[in-house]
Amino acid sequence: MRNRTKPERGRFMERFAVAMCFTLLAGTAAAAAPPAATIVKGGNGRGAPACASCHGADGGGQAAAGFPRLAGLNAAYLQYQLDSFATGTRSNPVMSPIAKALDQDERHALAEYFSRLPIPAAAANGTAPPAGDALGEHLATRGRWSRQVPACIRCHGPRGVGVGTSFPPLAGQSATYLANQLRDWQQGKRKNDPLGLMQHVSSVLDEADIEAVSKWFAAQPAAPKGGE
Ligand code: HEC
Ligand code: HEC
Repeated sequence: MRNRTKPERGRFMERFAVAMCFTLLAGTAAAAAPPAATIVKGGNGRGAPACASCHGADGGGQAAAGFPRLAGLNAAYLQYQLDSFATGTRSNPVMSPIAKALDQDERHALAEYFSRLPIPAAAANGTAPPAGDALGEHLATRGRWSRQVPACIRCHGPRGVGVGTSFPPLAGQSATYLANQLRDWQQGKRKNDPLGLMQHVSSVLDEADIEAVSKWFAAQPAAPKGGE
């Protein structure tokens, strides 16, 4: 009898120990990095609020508030922006503290998550460009060569649908958001752009240019994955 119970108790203890280990590991993993979908809906419990409350559950953003669309943007671009907010090369009173409250794994997972969402209909359909916006269209499609600024679409793709990992879409992003970015570059609040390309571009634009070109791009239909 004794010989039989001992090994059984031993095996039970072994299984118990293994089970405890799994529970502890799972617990640690969950505390360190809740899955992206959980953070989007409810935040990460460590200071980052639900992304959906501003960017929408569909990732479409809120045009009037200047909350950008994230759905369908390139994952590497999105992660680079979150990293930039976290390290301070891009500064915004709302997004900087949120990005700092996310760890590296969470920023990666959230970038992947939003990049996989389909482009919401409002952005995909586009709207009629504002009447009489010759200035916006000219800057977008011809640039300002007198100041060494190529057409925006040379880098941002046809109608601004975006190109690859480095050139984000402008099409279907709200005019408020786009104009905020151009002003942030002018004021040095955003300085994360490769080779200072956008610092140069924005430096030759005045307020009327910014308004016009932002409205032109906001009206253009967005295309999946930046037309990749
Ligand atoms: C309280 C509102 C709010 C919440 C919540 C919020 N954001 Fe933002 N987000 C903003 C604003 C405002 C901007 C634009 C900042 C700027 O103008 O530079 C922004 C910009 C971004 C950008 C840059 C997009 C681009 O095209 O460059 C990313 C990426 C982003 N947010 C991801 C997230 C993620 C992921 C979460 C959830 C963890 C989140 N945001 C939660 C308001 C919010
Ligand atoms: C020489 C290439 C180049 C040209 C020309 C160019 N851009 Fe950009 N633009 C970039 C790059 C690169 C980025 C991404 C910067 C980063 O990673 O933060 C960018 C980003 C932007 C953003 C931020 C988008 C977002 O989601 O946050 C806006 C707005 C923008 N550009 C507007 C314009 C406008 C308007 C023009 C024309 C007047 C223009 N760009 C011309 C290279 C260019």
